[in-house]
Amino acid sequence: MNDFIFHNPDKVYFGRDIMKHLPEELLKFGKKALMVYGGGSIKKNGLYDTVKKLCSDNGITLFELSGVEPNPRHTTANKGAEICKKEGIDVVLAVGGGSTIDCAKGVAAAAVTDSGNVWDLVSAGTWVTEALPVVAILTNAATGSEMDVWAVISNMETNEKIGLGGSALIPRAAFENPEYSFTLPKYQTACGAFDIFNHVLDNYYFAGDATFDLVLEMQEAVMRAVVKWVPVAMAEPENYEARANLMWASSMALNTILDAGTVHGCACHAMEHELSAYYDITHGHGLAILTPRWLEYILDESTAPAISRFGVKVFGLEEKDNAEEGAKAAIQAAYDFCFNTLGLKSTLTELGIDKTHFRAMAEHACMGGVITGPKNLTPDDVEKIYEMCL
Ligand code: NZQ
Ligand code: ZN
Repeated sequence: MNDFIFHNPDKVYFGRDIMKHLPEELLKFGKKALMVYGGGSIKKNGLYDTVKKLCSDNGITLFELSGVEPNPRHTTANKGAEICKKEGIDVVLAVGGGSTIDCAKGVAAAAVTDSGNVWDLVSAGTWVTEALPVVAILTNAATGSEMDVWAVISNMETNEKIGLGGSALIPRAAFENPEYSFTLPKYQTACGAFDIFNHVLDNYYFAGDATFDLVLEMQEAVMRAVVKWVPVAMAEPENYEARANLMWASSMALNTILDAGTVHGCACHAMEHELSAYYDITHGHGLAILTPRWLEYILDESTAPAISRFGVKVFGLEEKDNAEEGAKAAIQAAYDFCFNTLGLKSTLTELGIDKTHFRAMAEHACMGGVITGPKNLTPDDVEKIYEMCL
C-alpha cells in the first residue's frame, strides 16, 4: 500500500433543502457572480429562476454566460473570462452538468491570466494554482467535476480534448440536490452513470498491492451502487433515492477518497477523449463502447484474478475456481450492463465513426509514450481496441 495525502476542501451541501445556503457561499467572495450554464435545461426545470431570485434578494449581481456545449469549447470559456475581466467578477457559479462546471473552471482559470485564453493553460499542461473561486450547482450525476480538480476542455479547431487540472479548480462549495437531476433524459442518465462507473474501474480499481482492502471495498461499493440504482433512475426519473445514490457516487468517484494509496491509470478515458474530440460524442457513451473491449484486450494470466473479482463483487457473479473463466464471465456482464441494462448502442459504427482517424487518435491518446494501467497500451494497442469497437 502506498502512502497518500487526502485533502479535499470542497464544502458539499447535499439534499433537498440546501439552496438557502447559496448566498452565504457566494458572498464569501464578493457581490459579483458570473452564472455559467448550458443549453437551457436549467430554465425548463426552474433552477435558473431560483438562483436569480436568491441572488437578487441577497444583493448579489449576477452576470451570465449561457450556451455551454456538451464537450465545452475553449472559445466559450474565453468568452466567460472576458466578462470576468471586464466586470470584475468575484466568483464563478456553475449551474449544470460536468460540461458547465468544467467550462466555469476554465473561465475561472483564464480570468486571472493576461491572455484570458484558457487554451494557453491547457496546451501548456499548466497545473492551475490560481483562479477565481468556483461554486457549483450540480444537475447531472456523472463526471465528479463538482468535487474534483479537473476541467476537460475541447478545441474543435485542432480536434483536441484535454484535461486542465489544478488545486485552484476544486469548487469551493457544491450544491447537490438529487431533485435537480429528475429532468435528466434517460440517455444522459445512462451515460452519466457509466461515466461514474468507469472513473472507478479505469482510474484505480486495478491498482493491485498499491492499495488496501478498505479502499478496494469502497470502490466496489460505488460501482455496485451504479449497477443497482441506474436502472431505477432510468425507469423512474423522479425516484429520489436512485438519483441521490447516483449523485453521491458521482462525487465519490473522483474526489480522491477512493484513490487513497493507489496508482492511477486512465486507459478508457484517454481513448474516449479522442473520440469525443474528433466526433463530439457523449463521453459516457464512448466509455461504454470502449470498456468491455478494453477488458477483453487486457485479459491475460496476470489480470484475470482482478477482473474475475470485479465480476463477483460488482455484478454479483458466482465465484469461479478458474480465474480466466471468472474474468470472461465478468466481461460478459460488463457487455450486458452497457448494452442491455443501459440500452446504449454498442459500436462506434452505429455512432457514425469509422477507422479514418484511428491511427492519429491512438498516437495522440498515448502522448508520445504509453497509456499506463493494468496493462500499458501503445498506439498499436489503442488502434486495435478502437477496431474492436467497430
Ligand atoms: O446544456 P443543458 O441544457 O444544461 O443540457 C445538458 C446537456 O445537453 C443536459 N442536462 C444536464 N443536466 C440536466 C440536463 N437535462 C435535463 N435535466 C438536467 N438536470 O445533459 C446534457 C449533457 O450535459 P453535460 O454537462 O455535457 O454532461 P456531463 O455531466 O456528462 O459532462 C460531460 C463533460 O464532462 C467531461 C466530459 O468529457 C464531457 O466533456 N468530463 C469531466 C471530468 C471532470 N471534470 O473531472 C471527468 C470526466 O471523465 C469527463 O471527461
Ligand atoms: Zn469520465
